[in-house]
Amino acid sequence: MTAEMAHNSTSNQWDVRRLAGALGAEVRGIKLAEADAGDITEIKRLLGEHMVLFFPEQYMSQDEHVAFGKPFGPLEGHPNLGDRNDIQHPEIFQLQASQGGIADEWHTDLTFMDNPALMSILNMKKCPDSGGDTMWTNLCDAFDALSPPMQEMCEGLSALHDAHPHDRADRMSIHPVVRVLPDTGRKALYVNEHFTRRIVEMSGEESDNFLGFLTRWVQSPRFTVRYHWTEGTIGMWDNRCTQHYVLNDFDAERIIQRVTVMGDKPEGPDPRWEPWTARAGRSAMSRHDRQLARHLSERNREAAE
Ligand SMILES: [Fe+2]
Repeated sequence: MTAEMAHNSTSNQWDVRRLAGALGAEVRGIKLAEADAGDITEIKRLLGEHMVLFFPEQYMSQDEHVAFGKPFGPLEGHPNLGDRNDIQHPEIFQLQASQGGIADEWHTDLTFMDNPALMSILNMKKCPDSGGDTMWTNLCDAFDALSPPMQEMCEGLSALHDAHPHDRADRMSIHPVVRVLPDTGRKALYVNEHFTRRIVEMSGEESDNFLGFLTRWVQSPRFTVRYHWTEGTIGMWDNRCTQHYVLNDFDAERIIQRVTVMGDKPEGPDPRWEPWTARAGRSAMSRHDRQLARHLSERNREAAE
Protein backbone atom coordinates (compact mmCIF):
# COMPACT_ATOMS: atom_id res chain seq x y z
CA MET A 1 0.00 0.00 0.00
CA THR A 2 1.38 3.44 -0.87
CA ALA A 3 1.54 6.23 1.68
CA GLU A 4 -1.07 8.06 -0.37
CA MET A 5 -3.51 5.16 -0.19
CA ALA A 6 -2.96 4.69 3.52
CA HIS A 7 -3.53 8.31 4.35
CA ASN A 8 -6.11 10.17 2.31
CA SER A 9 -7.99 13.32 3.22
CA THR A 10 -11.60 14.00 2.39
CA SER A 11 -12.59 17.22 0.63
CA ASN A 12 -13.61 18.75 3.95
CA GLN A 13 -10.15 18.21 5.39
CA TRP A 14 -10.96 15.38 7.74
CA ASP A 15 -8.07 13.02 8.25
CA VAL A 16 -9.33 9.54 7.29
CA ARG A 17 -6.91 6.68 7.81
CA ARG A 18 -7.79 3.16 6.65
CA LEU A 19 -6.79 0.59 9.29
CA ALA A 20 -6.89 -2.78 7.50
CA GLY A 21 -7.43 -4.30 4.08
CA ALA A 22 -10.90 -5.59 4.90
CA LEU A 23 -12.55 -2.73 6.82
CA GLY A 24 -12.15 0.05 9.35
CA ALA A 25 -10.96 3.68 9.35
CA GLU A 26 -9.90 6.19 11.97
CA VAL A 27 -11.17 9.74 11.47
CA ARG A 28 -9.73 12.93 12.96
CA GLY A 29 -10.40 16.60 12.35
CA ILE A 30 -14.10 16.65 13.25
CA LYS A 31 -15.79 17.37 16.58
CA LEU A 32 -18.78 15.03 16.54
CA ALA A 33 -20.70 16.95 19.21
CA GLU A 34 -20.91 19.83 16.73
CA ALA A 35 -21.62 17.77 13.60
CA ASP A 36 -24.08 19.41 11.19
CA ALA A 37 -26.30 17.77 8.56
CA GLY A 38 -23.51 17.85 5.97
CA ASP A 39 -21.14 16.14 8.39
CA ILE A 40 -23.72 13.42 9.12
CA THR A 41 -24.08 12.79 5.38
CA GLU A 42 -20.31 12.47 5.07
CA ILE A 43 -20.12 10.12 8.07
CA LYS A 44 -22.80 7.90 6.48
CA ARG A 45 -20.78 7.82 3.27
CA LEU A 46 -17.61 6.90 5.16
CA LEU A 47 -19.46 4.20 7.06
CA GLY A 48 -20.63 2.71 3.76
CA GLU A 49 -17.02 2.66 2.56
CA HIS A 50 -15.31 1.38 5.73
CA MET A 51 -18.12 -0.35 7.73
CA VAL A 52 -16.56 0.66 11.07
CA LEU A 53 -15.26 4.12 12.01
CA PHE A 54 -13.30 5.42 15.01
CA PHE A 55 -13.19 9.04 16.16
CA PRO A 56 -10.55 9.49 18.92
CA GLU A 57 -10.57 12.26 21.54
CA GLN A 58 -14.29 13.11 21.40
CA TYR A 59 -15.04 12.79 25.18
CA MET A 60 -18.79 13.04 24.57
CA SER A 61 -21.30 13.57 27.37
CA GLN A 62 -24.39 11.36 27.51
CA ASP A 63 -26.52 14.20 26.10
CA GLU A 64 -24.11 14.69 23.20
CA HIS A 65 -23.92 10.94 22.56
CA VAL A 66 -27.70 10.59 22.25
CA ALA A 67 -28.01 13.79 20.18
CA PHE A 68 -25.28 12.57 17.82
CA GLY A 69 -27.07 9.23 17.33
CA LYS A 70 -30.52 10.63 16.51
CA PRO A 71 -29.89 11.81 12.90
CA PHE A 72 -28.98 8.21 11.96
CA GLY A 73 -32.46 6.90 12.81
CA PRO A 74 -34.69 6.08 15.79
CA LEU A 75 -32.68 4.87 18.80
CA GLU A 76 -33.52 1.89 20.97
CA GLY A 77 -32.71 0.72 24.46
CA HIS A 78 -30.89 -2.56 24.96
CA PRO A 79 -33.29 -5.36 25.92
CA ASN A 80 -30.73 -6.82 28.32
CA LEU A 81 -30.39 -5.26 31.75
CA GLY A 82 -27.33 -3.05 31.95
CA ASP A 83 -25.93 -1.10 34.84
CA ARG A 84 -28.24 1.92 35.12
CA ASN A 85 -26.05 3.83 37.62
CA ASP A 86 -25.42 7.38 36.43
CA ILE A 87 -27.24 6.73 33.16
CA GLN A 88 -29.60 9.57 32.33
CA HIS A 89 -31.02 8.33 29.03
CA PRO A 90 -32.98 5.14 28.30
CA GLU A 91 -31.24 5.07 24.92
CA ILE A 92 -27.84 4.57 26.56
CA PHE A 93 -26.74 1.07 27.42
CA GLN A 94 -23.72 0.80 29.72
CA LEU A 95 -21.48 -2.24 29.82
CA GLN A 96 -18.88 -2.64 32.55
CA ALA A 97 -16.24 -5.35 32.37
CA SER A 98 -16.21 -5.91 36.15
CA GLN A 99 -19.88 -6.86 35.87
CA GLY A 100 -19.37 -9.48 33.19
CA GLY A 101 -19.63 -7.08 30.27
CA ILE A 102 -17.07 -8.62 27.94
CA ALA A 103 -18.50 -9.80 24.61
CA ASP A 104 -15.78 -12.35 23.87
CA GLU A 105 -17.73 -14.29 21.26
CA TRP A 106 -18.08 -13.09 17.69
CA HIS A 107 -21.50 -11.56 17.12
CA THR A 108 -23.67 -9.05 15.34
CA ASP A 109 -25.65 -7.13 17.97
CA LEU A 110 -29.15 -8.42 18.79
CA THR A 111 -29.73 -10.81 15.87
CA PHE A 112 -32.29 -12.71 17.97
CA MET A 113 -34.66 -9.80 17.24
CA ASP A 114 -36.83 -9.58 14.13
CA ASN A 115 -35.30 -6.15 13.40
CA PRO A 116 -31.70 -6.21 14.70
CA ALA A 117 -29.97 -2.87 15.26
CA LEU A 118 -28.86 -1.07 12.11
CA MET A 119 -25.91 0.67 13.70
CA SER A 120 -24.16 0.83 17.05
CA ILE A 121 -22.41 3.95 18.34
CA LEU A 122 -20.01 3.25 21.20
CA ASN A 123 -18.51 5.77 23.60
CA MET A 124 -15.37 4.42 25.33
CA LYS A 125 -15.56 5.89 28.84
CA LYS A 126 -12.80 3.92 30.54
CA CYS A 127 -10.38 1.34 29.19
CA PRO A 128 -7.12 -0.36 30.15
CA ASP A 129 -3.83 0.99 28.78
CA SER A 130 -3.32 -2.31 27.03
CA GLY A 131 -5.73 -5.13 26.29
CA GLY A 132 -9.47 -4.97 25.73
CA ASP A 133 -9.13 -4.36 21.99
CA THR A 134 -12.16 -5.01 19.79
CA MET A 135 -12.11 -6.83 16.45
CA TRP A 136 -14.59 -6.51 13.60
CA THR A 137 -15.07 -8.70 10.56
CA ASN A 138 -16.41 -7.85 7.10
CA LEU A 139 -19.31 -10.22 6.34
CA CYS A 140 -19.52 -9.18 2.67
CA ASP A 141 -15.89 -10.14 2.05
CA ALA A 142 -16.57 -13.39 3.92
CA PHE A 143 -19.45 -14.23 1.56
CA ASP A 144 -17.57 -13.16 -1.59
CA ALA A 145 -14.60 -15.40 -0.71
CA LEU A 146 -16.73 -18.58 -0.54
CA SER A 147 -16.69 -20.91 -3.55
CA PRO A 148 -19.68 -20.64 -5.95
CA PRO A 149 -21.29 -23.93 -4.82
CA MET A 150 -21.01 -22.88 -1.18
CA GLN A 151 -22.45 -19.45 -1.98
CA GLU A 152 -25.34 -21.04 -3.83
CA MET A 153 -26.20 -23.36 -0.96
CA CYS A 154 -25.99 -20.55 1.61
CA GLU A 155 -28.36 -18.43 -0.47
CA GLY A 156 -31.02 -21.11 -0.14
CA LEU A 157 -30.88 -21.31 3.65
CA SER A 158 -32.25 -19.51 6.69
CA ALA A 159 -31.15 -19.68 10.33
CA LEU A 160 -32.70 -19.51 13.77
CA HIS A 161 -31.16 -16.98 16.19
CA ASP A 162 -31.91 -16.86 19.93
CA ALA A 163 -31.04 -14.81 23.02
CA HIS A 164 -29.60 -17.75 24.95
CA PRO A 165 -26.45 -15.70 25.83
CA HIS A 166 -28.79 -13.28 27.61
CA ASP A 167 -30.57 -16.21 29.35
CA ARG A 168 -33.59 -15.70 27.12
CA ALA A 169 -33.55 -18.66 24.72
CA ASP A 170 -37.28 -18.13 24.22
CA ARG A 171 -36.55 -14.94 22.27
CA MET A 172 -35.98 -16.12 18.72
CA SER A 173 -36.02 -14.97 15.14
CA ILE A 174 -35.28 -16.51 11.74
CA HIS A 175 -33.14 -14.62 9.20
CA PRO A 176 -31.69 -15.46 5.78
CA VAL A 177 -28.17 -16.91 5.96
CA VAL A 178 -27.24 -14.44 3.22
CA ARG A 179 -28.41 -10.90 3.90
CA VAL A 180 -28.68 -8.55 0.93
CA LEU A 181 -27.90 -4.91 1.73
CA PRO A 182 -30.63 -2.79 0.16
CA ASP A 183 -28.44 0.22 -0.71
CA THR A 184 -25.63 -1.63 -2.50
CA GLY A 185 -27.01 -5.09 -3.28
CA ARG A 186 -23.92 -6.61 -1.63
CA LYS A 187 -24.40 -9.94 0.11
CA ALA A 188 -23.35 -10.55 3.73
CA LEU A 189 -22.90 -13.92 5.45
CA TYR A 190 -25.33 -13.36 8.28
CA VAL A 191 -24.64 -16.04 10.91
CA ASN A 192 -22.70 -15.66 14.18
CA GLU A 193 -21.44 -18.02 16.88
CA HIS A 194 -23.10 -16.05 19.70
CA PHE A 195 -26.77 -15.93 18.67
CA THR A 196 -27.21 -18.23 15.64
CA ARG A 197 -28.46 -21.58 16.85
CA ARG A 198 -29.56 -23.63 13.89
CA ILE A 199 -29.82 -23.83 10.11
CA VAL A 200 -33.57 -24.22 9.65
CA GLU A 201 -33.47 -26.46 6.57
CA MET A 202 -30.82 -28.92 7.89
CA SER A 203 -30.84 -31.67 10.49
CA GLY A 204 -29.41 -30.73 13.86
CA GLU A 205 -26.19 -32.63 13.22
CA GLU A 206 -25.67 -31.15 9.77
CA SER A 207 -26.47 -27.71 11.11
CA ASP A 208 -23.95 -27.99 13.96
CA ASN A 209 -21.17 -28.83 11.55
CA PHE A 210 -22.09 -26.44 8.74
CA LEU A 211 -22.81 -23.55 11.07
CA GLY A 212 -19.53 -24.29 12.84
CA PHE A 213 -17.72 -23.93 9.52
CA LEU A 214 -19.50 -20.70 8.55
CA THR A 215 -19.09 -19.00 11.91
CA ARG A 216 -15.36 -19.91 11.98
CA TRP A 217 -14.98 -18.79 8.36
CA VAL A 218 -16.19 -15.24 9.07
CA GLN A 219 -13.52 -15.02 11.81
CA SER A 220 -10.63 -15.55 9.35
CA PRO A 221 -8.00 -12.88 10.09
CA ARG A 222 -8.03 -11.56 6.51
CA PHE A 223 -11.62 -10.33 6.91
CA THR A 224 -10.91 -8.47 10.16
CA VAL A 225 -9.60 -5.30 11.76
CA ARG A 226 -8.41 -4.97 15.38
CA TYR A 227 -8.67 -1.67 17.23
CA HIS A 228 -6.90 -0.51 20.37
CA TRP A 229 -9.12 1.90 22.29
CA THR A 230 -8.27 5.11 24.10
CA GLU A 231 -10.66 6.88 26.45
CA GLY A 232 -12.95 9.36 24.77
CA THR A 233 -13.05 7.53 21.43
CA ILE A 234 -16.36 7.09 19.60
CA GLY A 235 -16.62 3.91 17.52
CA MET A 236 -19.53 3.26 15.18
CA TRP A 237 -20.30 0.34 12.91
CA ASP A 238 -22.79 -0.95 10.39
CA ASN A 239 -24.38 -3.85 12.22
CA ARG A 240 -25.87 -5.38 9.04
CA CYS A 241 -22.58 -6.45 7.46
CA THR A 242 -20.13 -6.83 10.38
CA GLN A 243 -19.53 -8.89 13.50
CA HIS A 244 -17.34 -7.91 16.45
CA TYR A 245 -15.43 -9.52 19.30
CA VAL A 246 -13.87 -8.10 22.47
CA LEU A 247 -10.53 -9.55 23.59
CA ASN A 248 -10.80 -10.81 27.14
CA ASP A 249 -7.12 -10.20 27.90
CA PHE A 250 -7.20 -7.54 30.59
CA ASP A 251 -7.76 -7.25 34.31
CA ALA A 252 -8.89 -3.66 34.72
CA GLU A 253 -12.06 -1.62 34.46
CA ARG A 254 -13.46 -1.11 30.99
CA ILE A 255 -16.66 0.89 30.67
CA ILE A 256 -18.53 1.55 27.47
CA GLN A 257 -21.75 3.37 26.75
CA ARG A 258 -23.61 2.54 23.59
CA VAL A 259 -26.58 3.80 21.66
CA THR A 260 -28.09 1.67 18.91
CA VAL A 261 -30.02 2.79 15.84
CA MET A 262 -33.09 0.67 15.22
CA GLY A 263 -32.86 -1.64 12.26
CA ASP A 264 -35.13 -3.20 9.69
CA LYS A 265 -35.97 -6.78 8.82
CA PRO A 266 -32.97 -8.50 7.20
CA GLU A 267 -33.78 -9.23 3.55
CA GLY A 268 -32.35 -12.07 1.50
CA PRO A 269 -33.27 -14.84 -0.91
CA ASP A 270 -36.18 -17.03 0.17
CA PRO A 271 -35.19 -20.47 1.50
CA ARG A 272 -35.15 -23.07 -1.28
CA TRP A 273 -36.10 -25.96 1.02
CA GLU A 274 -38.68 -26.73 3.69
CA PRO A 275 -37.67 -26.51 7.36
CA TRP A 276 -36.04 -29.76 8.46
CA THR A 277 -38.74 -30.39 11.06
CA ALA A 278 -41.44 -30.46 8.36
CA ARG A 279 -39.48 -33.05 6.40
CA ALA A 280 -38.54 -35.16 9.38
CA GLY A 281 -42.06 -35.45 10.76
CA ARG A 282 -42.72 -36.13 14.42
CA SER A 283 -41.07 -39.52 14.55
CA ALA A 284 -37.71 -38.37 13.18
CA MET A 285 -37.56 -35.30 15.35
CA SER A 286 -34.90 -35.34 18.02
CA ARG A 287 -34.54 -33.13 21.07
CA HIS A 288 -32.32 -30.89 18.93
CA ASP A 289 -35.34 -30.09 16.77
CA ARG A 290 -37.74 -29.08 19.53
CA GLN A 291 -36.72 -25.44 19.78
CA LEU A 292 -37.02 -24.98 16.02
CA ALA A 293 -40.36 -26.78 15.88
CA ARG A 294 -41.72 -24.64 18.71
CA HIS A 295 -40.67 -21.40 17.07
CA LEU A 296 -42.07 -22.41 13.68
CA SER A 297 -45.42 -23.39 15.14
CA GLU A 298 -45.61 -20.10 17.08
CA ARG A 299 -44.77 -18.18 13.93
CA ASN A 300 -47.41 -20.07 11.92
CA ARG A 301 -50.00 -19.40 14.60
CA GLU A 302 -49.17 -15.67 14.61
CA ALA A 303 -49.36 -15.56 10.81
CA ALA A 304 -52.82 -17.21 10.91
CA GLU A 305 -54.19 -14.78 13.49
FE1 LIG B 1 -21.79 -6.28 20.67
